[in-house]
Amino acid sequence: MQQAISFGTAALDSKSLAIGDPSISRRRCRIRKLIVSGALGVTAMLVAGCGGDSDEPDPELVAQGKQIFRFDTFGDETQWTDTLRLHEVIRTAVDPTTALSVGLKVDSEALPPAVVQGIQNGSINLKSPDTTVALLKLNAVVGLQGKVEVVNGKDTLTRVGVTCALCHSTVDNSFAPGIGKRLDGWPNRDLDPGAIIALSPALDAVKKAVYNSWGKGKYDPRFNLDGQNGPQVIPPAYGLKGIHRITSTGDGTEIAYWNRYVGVTQMGGHGTFFEPRTGVNVTNGTDDLISSKLPALQAYQLSLAAPPPPAGSFDASAALRGSAVFKGAARCASCHSGLEFTDANVRLHLPSEVVSEPEPLGVPSYASRSATKMYRTAPLRGLWQHPPYFHNGTAATLEDVVQTYNTRQSLGLTAAEIADLVQYLKSL
Ligand code: HEC
Ligand code: HEC
Repeated sequence: MQQAISFGTAALDSKSLAIGDPSISRRRCRIRKLIVSGALGVTAMLVAGCGGDSDEPDPELVAQGKQIFRFDTFGDETQWTDTLRLHEVIRTAVDPTTALSVGLKVDSEALPPAVVQGIQNGSINLKSPDTTVALLKLNAVVGLQGKVEVVNGKDTLTRVGVTCALCHSTVDNSFAPGIGKRLDGWPNRDLDPGAIIALSPALDAVKKAVYNSWGKGKYDPRFNLDGQNGPQVIPPAYGLKGIHRITSTGDGTEIAYWNRYVGVTQMGGHGTFFEPRTGVNVTNGTDDLISSKLPALQAYQLSLAAPPPPAGSFDASAALRGSAVFKGAARCASCHSGLEFTDANVRLHLPSEVVSEPEPLGVPSYASRSATKMYRTAPLRGLWQHPPYFHNGTAATLEDVVQTYNTRQSLGLTAAEIADLVQYLKSL
């Protein structure tokens, strides 16, 4: 304690020196945490202003953020258990085969050797909901947190909640399809969140029909607030460092803005989200289980780089030619500029400038439902990893993306230029 206090004085003295020097300011971050945990006995995560997107993230904060991203429900069991009663459905009707078929993933590293063996030799029954409960007890289902208690002599799922990893992590399938090591930040495009929510016995038929209409890899993060049905492709949560417009409509200037939005208004976590531009004002619970976690959660996401394209997944000489098309004839770089291929930090774009509008099926413009009413130029690193493209998923492949631009913007690209441009996009 004494040491923390004297460190604290030194930290304050060094404050003016620290400006602009990430290593010193990182140290200051740690020192302040010592003071907080020493003097007040609360966790380090309470410290605001540490993490951010300084060039050298604080490894402790990143490690805490990883735990939060993977395992923290912010108390959202209130929504998924008390309101939606999904624990009842899971424990009686969702066997592991069904769970995998709606895109849920199993973390193979959470499985003890006996379970691994049992799955391999078929002695573990993947057609029994009891096995799902056992996997939840092992904390092996990505993005779901279950509380398993013995009721009448039997392991029973009594609470269930969701975490960020549900939609923004997948696995590498190294053990079996849907079972492997976690890949955080990779959108789970196999997941059908609407179909999972629609299992709830608490929803009426009209709502169930909307949830069931979304399909794999899509989720509408505004439907429960504005009643419009226009599902969005689940985007990556990686490759966002240095980008200060968050979500496809650039609603927030940093990730924490949207993390609070989703944590409170979508996951049902305890805390408050208020946005005067849309009038969204939601408070869950009487406690706040989110605010203190936002700095660490943001630091973790900023540490996730977009995955490089696999070796041999594109033609390097065609990609080189495509890079010239991107900057030249196709004029892509007029918006997709800079290291992350976006002008988001400088400007947003009107729906009329965006080739993915109008929305399919007469759905209202997604921008019109947002805080900015505009679109952010999408960052392009890691594109190879996450088809389909555009906020509404209207382009199934990168070929479709380029064809759409070529037609809608009358670019007059030749077939060879289109092919080269596609190879370039695959290389990012
Ligand atoms: C049920 C699925 C789901 C869950 C759970 C979820 N998200 Fe998302 N997330 C989405 C969708 C859909 C969008 C796209 C929203 C948009 O662009 O308007 C999104 C957008 C984002 C973005 C913006 C990415 C960008 O390119 O700017 C970030 C960051 C993010 N989510 C992080 C999180 C974190 C952290 C959590 C946990 C607190 C979380 N999400 C929980 C579905 C989900
Ligand atoms: C006027 C600015 C502008 C120009 C020019 C432009 N883009 Fe875009 N691009 C955007 C915006 C805005 C989005 C986001 C649209 C959405 O989310 O629906 C986007 C989205 C994309 C995406 C989808 C990314 C994803 O994660 O789904 C790709 C790929 C892309 N653009 C490639 C290109 C290529 C290739 C060109 C040149 C032929 C080009 N863009 C020209 C603004 C532009």
